[in-house]
Amino acid sequence: MQQSQKPLIIANWKLALDHEESVILAGKIANSQSEFTDSVQLVICPSATSLDAVSSSFGDSSQVEFGAQNAFYEERGPFTGEVSVKALKQLGAKYVIVGHSERRKYFRETNEDVAKKTMCALKHNLIPIVCVGETYEERQRQQAEIVVSEELQAALAHVTLQPNQHIIVAYEPIWAIGTGQAINAEQARLMGLVIHQKMIDLFPQQALKNTRVVYGGSIDGTNVRDFVDDRVLSGVLVGGASQRFADLQSLVFAFKKQ
Ligand code: PGA
Repeated sequence: MQQSQKPLIIANWKLALDHEESVILAGKIANSQSEFTDSVQLVICPSATSLDAVSSSFGDSSQVEFGAQNAFYEERGPFTGEVSVKALKQLGAKYVIVGHSERRKYFRETNEDVAKKTMCALKHNLIPIVCVGETYEERQRQQAEIVVSEELQAALAHVTLQPNQHIIVAYEPIWAIGTGQAINAEQARLMGLVIHQKMIDLFPQQALKNTRVVYGGSIDGTNVRDFVDDRVLSGVLVGGASQRFADLQSLVFAFKKQ
């Protein structure tokens, strides 16, 4: 990670909001957007169907950025229902979440899918936010580091990070997502170190400045400061607490200088 970057807050709206609700929430944020971007780098990931309208709610000079929650790894073809990276980019996305545990669980996404999606995103100059994390049982069995390392190896082994390409890894212990039970911040930081080490193993030295690691799982305005530093974990991926204006505001305001 580069020094002196602002903390990264990635708002994962999941399927929590319909189109109208997404546009209303985006409008509220846009109305006070300088407050949302003076201390943090904010990336909003709405449903793909709302990406265009949400990103258009912010002016061209806005510092708020946008991402998709998923994308397919083929550019075009007989893949009914899928959405391409290229189309998402045309609708305003700069980032794409890849391999979220909900996609792995409910849509049977494999490590191989995650690898293909990551490479497709990089090819089209989108920044992949690659999600990795262990189940509660795996942590209990002391296998968390192995699981995360294997997921990273599978996702990134064939990635050659060019100087103009960036990648974000989100460490999301599966049992901490949507449960109100975040992992202990020190344990999150230790896993952050494991992830950085893995990237040191996989990528050339000059590419490492283009990598960031963030934490996700039951983050809100009360605990977010514990999970962000300027060395290991440089931001958060937030679901529930990013989907309501007041909660998102308290997340962002947690970083304002007193
Ligand atoms: P949560 O979700 O903040 O609601 O726990 C995080 C995520 O799924 O990215």
